[in-house]
Amino acid sequence: MRSAVILAAGKGTRMQSAKPKVLHEILGKSMILHVVQTLKDAKIQKIVVILGHESELVKENLANEKHIEFAYQHEQLGTADALKQAKSNLGHISGSTIVVCGDTPLLTRKTITEIFEQHEKQEQVDGCACTVLTGELEDASGYGRIIRNVNHEIIGIIEEKDATSDEKLVKEFNSGVYCLSNAHLFENLEKITNNNTQSEYYLPDIIKILKIQKKAVARYIIKDNAEIIGVNDRVALSDVTTILRHKINHGWQLQGVTMHNPETIFIGRDVIIAKDVIIETNVKILGNTRIASDTIIGMNSEINNCTIAENVIIKQSVISDSIIGAHTTVGPFAHLRQQCEIGKHTRIGNFVEFKNTRFADYSASAHLTYLGDAEIGHHVNIGCGTITANYNGVSKSKTIIGNSVFIGSNSNLIAPITIHNGAFIGAGSTLMQDIPENAFAMTRGPEILKEGYATILKQKYADAKK
Ligand code: UD1
Ligand code: MG
Repeated sequence: MRSAVILAAGKGTRMQSAKPKVLHEILGKSMILHVVQTLKDAKIQKIVVILGHESELVKENLANEKHIEFAYQHEQLGTADALKQAKSNLGHISGSTIVVCGDTPLLTRKTITEIFEQHEKQEQVDGCACTVLTGELEDASGYGRIIRNVNHEIIGIIEEKDATSDEKLVKEFNSGVYCLSNAHLFENLEKITNNNTQSEYYLPDIIKILKIQKKAVARYIIKDNAEIIGVNDRVALSDVTTILRHKINHGWQLQGVTMHNPETIFIGRDVIIAKDVIIETNVKILGNTRIASDTIIGMNSEINNCTIAENVIIKQSVISDSIIGAHTTVGPFAHLRQQCEIGKHTRIGNFVEFKNTRFADYSASAHLTYLGDAEIGHHVNIGCGTITANYNGVSKSKTIIGNSVFIGSNSNLIAPITIHNGAFIGAGSTLMQDIPENAFAMTRGPEILKEGYATILKQKYADAKK
């Protein structure tokens, strides 16, 4: 059986943050969620996350992830001590376990699968007890270095802080990812001591212990070092974001998506984009967003968790948790949020905000409007400056507008209210009662007209100022 342990108990001191390191986000998703998702993609049957520092926050971040187990490291005594905490989850299970760090978010499904395959094969050949994933860098500063004997066999890993100047010249480094046979794991973790500069129990020391027992240790060398960048500070956080962003954008470009300025475009790893979509400069598309073909996401737009149909034009707008129908135009400067469902061929113009609103086909709200908790039928015209007053300071109420209704400009609709099919509301109205089908309604103060009085009034004010 293939199992995995994610080490995520550390504080991440070098991040200089109040937030636990593994909750820092890359393209809208925490580092630990990236790791969990990749392990699931690699079909790992059992995943154990080691929690410690701010464990409740990390657990909450993983609340929607099914089939993962948690173990707790109460004091952060080092990576070996962290792994020990998974004994009750894995101690009785056969097979091998991949140990990954919660701060290595770029590791791919392919690498995880290949390291397991290599390890399982090698275990059959020479009883290999551990395969360590290594990389090579001209300057491997910050990483543990792989130490070999004269026969070129791996005999241990030395941490940067414990390394001599000669050892620091070693180019091969430890990625912090290991595939270990469960049979030799937990009893050997007990043998690791904390006799080092940091007084920590180092997991890499397991290699020394296995070698003393004459067990075979192998390495799997990574092809692309970027995959195993361990994010320890904010510099690495932005480096990793840049690498992933580039990889994702490149992938979509090759699938037929036009990007005006890909260095300014941020697309999350779960987003799906169809052919002939155009994405302009400075755009963020995150969460579970789906975008159908021939849609244009205009510059400075932010889209999160949305389903956007084909032939939609979005200009400089912010849209979250919503569905947009085909041939609709949104913006410039619109804000649609909290489960809006927008129909086909609709028009949502500048300075329009919709919250939790359904807006059926062929309706338009072209300027300066707020619709909250509303249901709007088809072929409705919402005049400029229309407001649903949906909140009385305590609770929210609904506004329902039927089909083919005309709402005149600058209307206030005080919810709860229903305006039935075909009604016509005169501009400048403040309405509190339901309006029947095909009715006309208007509330307006009397209009006063005094010929020539403007001149008199202006003179009066000018005289008063003297
Ligand atoms: C570790 C390795 C190093 C390797 C590097 C790769 C050790 C001692 N060193 O160093 O050889 O080159 O990763 O990125 O393992 N953690 C716990 N409990 C603890 C300490 C750490 O759960 O008591 C977790 C952290 O949350 C983190 C991971 O283990 O996710 C690695 O810890 P970190 O402090 O980042 O180790 P590195 O110094 O990067
Ligand atoms: Mg690290």
